[in-house]
Amino acid sequence: MNIAVAGTGYVGLVTGVCLAEHGHGVTCVDVDQQKVEIMRKGISPIFEPGLDELMLKNMERLTFTTDYKAAYREADVIFIGVGTPEKRDGSANLTYVYEVAGQIAASIERDCVVVVKSTVPIGTNDKIEAYMKARLAHPVQVWIASNPEFLAQGTAVQDTLHASRIVIGVEEDKPGVILQEVYKDFDAPKLLTNRRSAEMIKYASNDFLALKISYVNEIANLCETVGADIEDVTKGMGFDGRIGNQFLRAGIGYGGSCFPKDTKALSWLASFNDNEIKTIKAAIEVNENQKYRLIKKARKYYEDFKGLTVAVLGLTFKPGTDDLREAPSLVNIPVFLEDGAIVKAWDPVGVGNFKKKCDGDISYCESIEETLQDADICFIFTEWPQVKELDPHIFAACMKHPIILDGRNCYELERMEQAGVIYESIGRRAVQPAKEN
Ligand code: UDX
Repeated sequence: MNIAVAGTGYVGLVTGVCLAEHGHGVTCVDVDQQKVEIMRKGISPIFEPGLDELMLKNMERLTFTTDYKAAYREADVIFIGVGTPEKRDGSANLTYVYEVAGQIAASIERDCVVVVKSTVPIGTNDKIEAYMKARLAHPVQVWIASNPEFLAQGTAVQDTLHASRIVIGVEEDKPGVILQEVYKDFDAPKLLTNRRSAEMIKYASNDFLALKISYVNEIANLCETVGADIEDVTKGMGFDGRIGNQFLRAGIGYGGSCFPKDTKALSWLASFNDNEIKTIKAAIEVNENQKYRLIKKARKYYEDFKGLTVAVLGLTFKPGTDDLREAPSLVNIPVFLEDGAIVKAWDPVGVGNFKKKCDGDISYCESIEETLQDADICFIFTEWPQVKELDPHIFAACMKHPIILDGRNCYELERMEQAGVIYESIGRRAVQPAKEN
């Protein structure tokens, strides 16, 4: 089978490389010539653990090109993995998906299954089918399938090779049979359903996870008031298989390319159809407020940040990625700068992307110690292993005023007590330095 993949972002490239790993010949198409040149050398243009190695291993089955006509002409299956970013009103921007659909319609010269992996609003694939059929340059059959992607950044390769499930949404038998053949060597439960259900599975799954995080964050905030400990609370909840023990980590809110976008898109879709998903609307609101949680706590110690040296550990929306989309750092750091703080920041891979999104006067440090030096307060926005593994005594040794506000609950409270620092996290009691006898 000839397989082509449109778009070489997280979804497209990881899909292409993992299909090659399972023995398929795959042509990956991108409009960006420079990116294509890099990939031809076996280098991944995105930071994703394990992807470079897998690319190199499968280079003989992988082709990278900007020549979409040649790539689509002879393809049996074409995956669309281009972005569907958020529009100002919260709806999904489908420009890139339609652009690729039009190119495919104009290029294919044999019957072909077009597989939409991009996250699109429910009903979009029906429209794509009509759009493509009206534009076919040759008398061929084209089937549109929905095959949503559930990979998370940082674990994208594993999430694809060992997928929790493979959802195939089709309206006829033939594309379903072809896609089952494509995925036959993937060891994952496969669900064959209709297209609209497949599209909904993606949104419902992502939004449920976002909901779970916002719920746990609200419980965490309440724990602080009533004197409970969120770590124990979620541990206790997680023993119940109906609740599950994952995605119960309280923190400073979710970011990333999916949860913020997909919650807003589903909420928009519901209201457009005169419905309202109140739970999702609430999850969005809770998350927006949660991102400012540490700043509220900081006001206990300082009225504002004017003239203070603020140390920031972690810029990305989570560890294991250089992605900053919707990261809590992006809303917090501008507040420090606006107040007139001296901001020092450390992140192992996110600095380059941060500079593109925030042009304030920030000192980017090479090490955590350098960042903490003489700081009046420290904010932790990302639970990088380097941060979690830090000896807490370093805070007291380096900082002028060792006040640590941790948005990711990186440390045990007892250790922070012994380290002689002021330590506040999410959903746990505040730690003050132990009194000397
Ligand atoms: C997510 C989904 O996990 C994935 O299935 C989907 O295909 C795309 O969206 P991703 O955005 O890459 O993946 O990262 P994920 O690990 O899910 O984390 C998203 C955000 O939620 C991060 O900011 C993370 O810090 C936060 N989070 C996650 C929590 O605050 N608590 C948790 O318990 C889990």
